[in-house]
Amino acid sequence: MGNFQVIDHPLIQHKLTILRDKNTGTKYFREVVNEIARLLAYEVSREMPLRDIEIETPIVKTVQKQLAGKKVVIVPILRAGLGMVDGMLDLIPAAKVGHVGMYRDHDTMEPVEYFIKMPSDLSERELLVVDPMLATGGSAVAAIDALKKRGATNIKFVCLVAAPEGVKVLQDAHPDVGIYTASLDEKLDEKGYILPGLGDAGDRLFGTL
Ligand code: URA
Repeated sequence: MGNFQVIDHPLIQHKLTILRDKNTGTKYFREVVNEIARLLAYEVSREMPLRDIEIETPIVKTVQKQLAGKKVVIVPILRAGLGMVDGMLDLIPAAKVGHVGMYRDHDTMEPVEYFIKMPSDLSERELLVVDPMLATGGSAVAAIDALKKRGATNIKFVCLVAAPEGVKVLQDAHPDVGIYTASLDEKLDEKGYILPGLGDAGDRLFGTL
């Protein structure tokens, strides 16, 4: 089973409370989403492999560490995932950014892929799929299905708030995918919103309330 981690650093908990507050406006909401994404990127990158390289300081030759792992691709699930990209790029500036768009078919209630644009050689890369909310898990599973179909093998899923229902759905469908969240909330309501949650993350990020 992939790693499941709640990254509940005090700074993250404090910032998440700001996001949950319904009085937080779009500009501040967007900034804080990026601040949390930056902190999550720090934790998610903790296991990245290193190699030794020889360099010269102004004084001596020395062997030091350099990142050696697969090249990273940040993959926002449209639309709300876009809100986390800049924060993650702050810490991993050499990352590529791929995009996956999903909508829910009103008849079948199944997520449908409508857009995907990824860098080449996905099998050679580490993918960080980002979406602020892991609610039912439907779009996360469908997005990861689409990425695996194109060759991705090394995938982590990074979100701000997860519902237990969504975690189970994603773990059952993709047990190899590590899940990193700032909070594991209580449950979904009958409309699929996370409780207590923070409302519709896309609407709050883009001011489409
Ligand atoms: N998507 C959101 O943006 N919020 C939720 O609570 C659930 C899904």
